[in-house]
Amino acid sequence: MFRSIACLLVALPCVLLAPSQSFPNMVQLNSMYDLYWEANSTYIMFEVDVQTNGMVGFGISETGLMFPGDVIMAWVSHGQAEFQDSYAGMHGPPTKDASQDWTLYSSSEHGPTTTLTFGRPLNTHDDQDLVIHPGKVHVIYSWTDVDPTGWDDLTYHGKINRGSMEVDLLGGQGPAVGK
Ligand SMILES: *[C@@H]1O[C@H](CO)[C@@H](O)[C@H](O)[C@H]1NC(C)=O
Repeated sequence: MFRSIACLLVALPCVLLAPSQSFPNMVQLNSMYDLYWEANSTYIMFEVDVQTNGMVGFGISETGLMFPGDVIMAWVSHGQAEFQDSYAGMHGPPTKDASQDWTLYSSSEHGPTTTLTFGRPLNTHDDQDLVIHPGKVHVIYSWTDVDPTGWDDLTYHGKINRGSMEVDLLGGQGPAVGK
């Protein structure tokens, strides 16, 4: 409720959902994709609320390009979540990291919305992950309209929507400002 009022006041496109728990930081990455987060000196917790019943991608990139990127890919099918810490190389679908350093805490699909809560250490000490450092970080995000049938099927998943935004994840000074 608070959120829908806030959205009306600032005249942004918005979804009328509150996050599943209280997060001090929020940015709308896209009208279809809300990001919430909370960080301390060692760990960061995210929630994404995405207007899709398909696959959701989220991650960090050095440049803002999709490749190379440290990403998670996830989807919810029949109440069951699939979640993977992956590495997006130059071409082709992301590949599963040997070391799984991002942790899924909760997942759900309600109506058109997929909600995922996940976290990771700021420094995972895995060379397939990036260190989340103070200052602006390139956040990358994507979603598809339909679920893949499995992890072997990431090359075909219908239309892929994606983008990036620079966000100060460790600033802790209230919401980041989007483009
Ligand atoms: C940071 O948050 C994580 C996850 O909630 C927690 O396990 C850890 O103890 C926290 N560390 C500090 C220094 O507060």
